Amino acid sequence: MAFGIDERTNPWWNPAAPEFVAAANAVSLIMPFAEPFVARTARLASKSLGGPLGDTAEAFAAQELAHQHEHRRFNAAVRAVSPGVRHVERALRWVFARLGRRSLASNLALTAALECIAYSLARWTSAHLPLFQGGADPVVSRMYVWHLAEEVEHKSVGFDLWWALDGRPSRYARNAVLALCLFVAAVVAGTFAQLWSARRLWNPLAWARLVMWSLSAGMEILPTLAVSCFTSHHPTKLVDPSWYALWLRDFDTSSATATATSVPRST
Ligand SMILES: [Fe+2]
Ligand SMILES: [Fe+2]
Repeated sequence: MAFGIDERTNPWWNPAAPEFVAAANAVSLIMPFAEPFVARTARLASKSLGGPLGDTAEAFAAQELAHQHEHRRFNAAVRAVSPGVRHVERALRWVFARLGRRSLASNLALTAALECIAYSLARWTSAHLPLFQGGADPVVSRMYVWHLAEEVEHKSVGFDLWWALDGRPSRYARNAVLALCLFVAAVVAGTFAQLWSARRLWNPLAWARLVMWSLSAGMEILPTLAVSCFTSHHPTKLVDPSWYALWLRDFDTSSATATATSVPRST
């Protein structure tokens, strides 16, 4: 995958919504730590399972590693203008290294919960697509939409792996809380570090916008994560924004830089 992102890419990729950009970039900062963790967990599960679900786990791991590879390039551009994000990255490296030492069952539960949050973000984004349009850099927008579309595509895999090898609801619920706390802490810290560098941290308008987006994202993430804790839940019961699958179908992976599908104008 090559979107043409490198350290020269402007990390403030939508000048019309700098606070949103800071929050989205803060999510991007998590990826080089969370996605290798998810991929390692899926590959361990694949070894235990074998068969078709084992193959699906391998394909899932490959997708997650491709995602973090693109985010790693982009994050270098973010770090160049917001050096404070290094502290967030250092903390994330330490946290995911510690989490990697836990049991496979616990890490599968955390993987399933992290995937649930990723899917919720895809649904939230679908309702807020103008933030990726207008004056936004189409290269960066495409990278985010590509990632979210693949999160929708593989929304069930983490859950299926956890269910096949553990399936204890209490373990899942504990890890859902952990996933949410990790996600919120990293996004808040990453956002503040960037707004500090951009001298927007004490701007009341920035705070008003961040509170508004946080509330609406919370209204998407919290109910979805809560519902996923019930034993009757399966991700296939959640309704996907259908355009993601169509967008992926049209996406030319062989020449992403030149001919990739643009972000749709409406949903
Ligand atoms: Fe991903
Ligand atoms: Fe994922």
